[in-house]
Amino acid sequence: MHEVEHILSTDQFGRDELLALFEQADEMEKILEVGGEDVLHGKIMATLFFEPSTRTRFSFESAMLRLGGRVISNADMANTSSLKKQETLEDTGRTVSQMADVIVMRHPDAGSVAKLASFCDVPVINGGDGPSDHPTQGLLDLYTIWKEKGSLDGLTVGMVGDLKFGRVVHSQCKLLKEFDVKFIFVSPKGLEVPAEIAEELADAGCEIELSENLEEIIEKMDVISMTRVQEERFEDKSDYEKYAGAYVLDESLMKKAKNDAIVIHPLPRVDEISPEVDEDPRAKYFEQPKNGVAVRMALLKKLLIGENDNL
Ligand code: NCD
Repeated sequence: MHEVEHILSTDQFGRDELLALFEQADEMEKILEVGGEDVLHGKIMATLFFEPSTRTRFSFESAMLRLGGRVISNADMANTSSLKKQETLEDTGRTVSQMADVIVMRHPDAGSVAKLASFCDVPVINGGDGPSDHPTQGLLDLYTIWKEKGSLDGLTVGMVGDLKFGRVVHSQCKLLKEFDVKFIFVSPKGLEVPAEIAEELADAGCEIELSENLEEIIEKMDVISMTRVQEERFEDKSDYEKYAGAYVLDESLMKKAKNDAIVIHPLPRVDEISPEVDEDPRAKYFEQPKNGVAVRMALLKKLLIGENDNL
């Protein structure tokens, strides 16, 4: 099998690649303003989703369609694909890669997307593998910060909520460590950021502060990155109930935040950001989906026609 470039992990992206990607995403935003471009004409993307999704799947599909490509999609692979008939991921990968030029997959098991990719001779993109990683969400989050703050260096980024199971948190951390960033982790006891990620950040020379009290520490944050408690990752649902509602970002907390702070959230939200915050100009979470389309357009273009030399 020939060497294929996949997007499986945030570890693949260094500082220069990230900055080049953000420039490309800016170009894609200009293309979006005129409705799209036909550069991926004749190309087909397959989306294989084994877990619920609104933004990630639509975002990839929208990106592909905006670039003139086409899409074949299964939003419920777990119940409506041949895996239900005991087919292995290997055989599914081999099969779908005969029919598509690029595959996007989401799956509840860490490492499963990389496993499928090893049997595919077309690029495979990780759309989220269990609690592990969600590289393209991390990329669009950093793109949002870069756009809003002008740079990623010198920022204090607060991550709030389920830092243990939140794969987006893990992806953001691994990407942000490429920059001069200070981390503040705010989580309830039991949902702290995994030790191996904290170690990775410390090894990269990043300063880390831990807290359980958002109210006390919010004033230090340039970026407030919220995440929901990941209900589907708890084996015992009563444990989830313990944490639900642990942090709620509301108007009174926003009064304590910096005037030029920004609030990001990958969505979906449950109750961790009160709707009254939506109208606050510092709230950027409803701008992130559009940024996500631009970032995914840049990635698809790069994978399928390899035009972006610096990436
Ligand atoms: C996130 C995910 O699926 O990990 N959502 C997304 O992709 N926009 C975050 C979440 O589900 O909490």
